[in-house]
Amino acid sequence: MKGPLVSTAILLVGVYIFLAFLLPLVTAPLPASLIYLYLAITLSGAMIYQTMSAGGLEAFMGPIYRFLSGEIDGPAKMARLALLVVFPLLVGWQTYTKLAPSDLPPAENRTIHPAPPGEFVGLANPYPANEQNIQEGKGIYAANCSPCHGPNFDGKGSAAPGFNPPPANFADPGTIAQLQESYLFWRIKKGGVGLPIEGMPWKSAMPRWEHELTDEKIWKVIIGEYDGAGQSPRTWEEEE
Ligand code: HEC
Repeated sequence: MKGPLVSTAILLVGVYIFLAFLLPLVTAPLPASLIYLYLAITLSGAMIYQTMSAGGLEAFMGPIYRFLSGEIDGPAKMARLALLVVFPLLVGWQTYTKLAPSDLPPAENRTIHPAPPGEFVGLANPYPANEQNIQEGKGIYAANCSPCHGPNFDGKGSAAPGFNPPPANFADPGTIAQLQESYLFWRIKKGGVGLPIEGMPWKSAMPRWEHELTDEKIWKVIIGEYDGAGQSPRTWEEEE
């Protein structure tokens, strides 16, 4: 068997082997979608080249036409029947796999520190960080927060292993040390359910404290939290 169809097929297989198997030996593997893109470009290039003359067109399309129209008999008839069955099945399978709902979780990135609502921006703690307020705040913390955030402020409370995302580790420089007190005030008052949409999906176990703790207690627990974790809040002066 010779002819433009065969050489086009050989070319496609060659390009595929090169892109999918040989190229990854020297560089990073290509994504499958890119390989298919290159194959489609190769195929259209080959078809344009093979069908440029009238003779070429007949040599390229002729066998396909004769095969499909039934001019060739014998084993070709069986192959034609098989194609008639297999092709719609392939298209159906392809469509099904594209549309079928999957049980994989959606690839959503949670924003850990979304912007707070406007009414919380720039609030200042009305209570000074003196010894009395620190002790009072630590007491509120021990009673309400330590089961999750841990008696050592490190996110390792006894209930913590049950939660994903885990309770924030306040001793880690990536949490409250990066935040202003007004931000904590918002997060403690409104909790996980108060997060805006980019802080979803739906998972934070952080309770909404506004019905349990007065504003005064929330400000004081913030003072106790920073002191206990050995961090200090971010302030505007530092940013300038
Ligand atoms: C039921 C467990 C639980 C309890 C109790 C709890 N928290 Fe949380 N908290 C979490 C979880 C989980 C997160 C992390 C997810 C998030 O940011 O909402 C979190 C996050 C936070 C954050 C945000 C930290 C950051 O880096 O954005 C603050 C502040 C906070 N908690 C303070 C408190 C305070 C204060 C209390 C007690 C009054 C408390 N939490 C009680 C579970 C809890």
